[in-house]
Amino acid sequence: MEILKNIDILNDILGKTGPIEALQWLSEHSSFNVTFSTSFGQEDQVITDMIFKNDLDVNVFTLDTGRLFQETYDVHGLTLKKYKKSIDVFYPLHESVESMIKEKGPNSFYDSIENRKQCCNIRKIEPLSRALKPFNVWVTGLRSTQSKNRSLLKRFQYDPKFDIIKFNPILDWNLEEVEKYLDTHRVPQNRLHKKGYISIGCEPCTRAISPGEDIRAGRWWWETSKKECGLHS
Ligand code: ADX
Ligand code: SF4
Repeated sequence: MEILKNIDILNDILGKTGPIEALQWLSEHSSFNVTFSTSFGQEDQVITDMIFKNDLDVNVFTLDTGRLFQETYDVHGLTLKKYKKSIDVFYPLHESVESMIKEKGPNSFYDSIENRKQCCNIRKIEPLSRALKPFNVWVTGLRSTQSKNRSLLKRFQYDPKFDIIKFNPILDWNLEEVEKYLDTHRVPQNRLHKKGYISIGCEPCTRAISPGEDIRAGRWWWETSKKECGLHS
């Protein structure tokens, strides 16, 4: 239960500290091994810029599901070129993908929630578990106004699924603040954002949204239940 005590301490010390200062504080304290997961979305690009420009001792990784948009790979490439820092990449286990596709075909996620969850487990959750294993703090780009579920999150939170402290440094930022940061700091962005895509995941499971629609309405749009894949329960 040591980890739970850390959460209270962290919320006390860093609850209101700016994102860069909080990341810096964590990276300078040897009891914390910090890693940041990026999908190259808008929020993640803000945090990437903060980590790389300030040379913070924070590991950065991405999960390549094998079903991402070409535009997302383009941002990945541009980010490597701009900052000249390394980003770890985790892929799904090939045996698991091979047997799923052999048994159910390449688009089974449209057929049932069970199939969709199986695909997300194989392509995202299992690689995420591997990526998080060496660390005790997991930084994400989650924001409160992204969804009802996310409005309940705290800045620091214990994640029992992955047994790790989760840190959401820009939890209280709104979308305008994110966009302003990206423009001011000339951070590489996904071209799809200008085409109506706000929240971007895998290509077959993401569509553009119309003005006024919920930010996450384009994710797994054919499902009516809450739009989370299991990365953030
Ligand atoms: S998801 O659960 O619906 O896919 P979302 O796209 O909103 O998540 O992203 C929220 C946070 O989850 C991101 O800020 C990032 O930290 C993490 N994340 C999502 N997808 C990936 C990915 N492919 N690789 C690494 N991190 C990811
Ligand atoms: Fe599979 Fe879609 Fe989940 Fe990506 S978002 S892992 S393609 S079900």
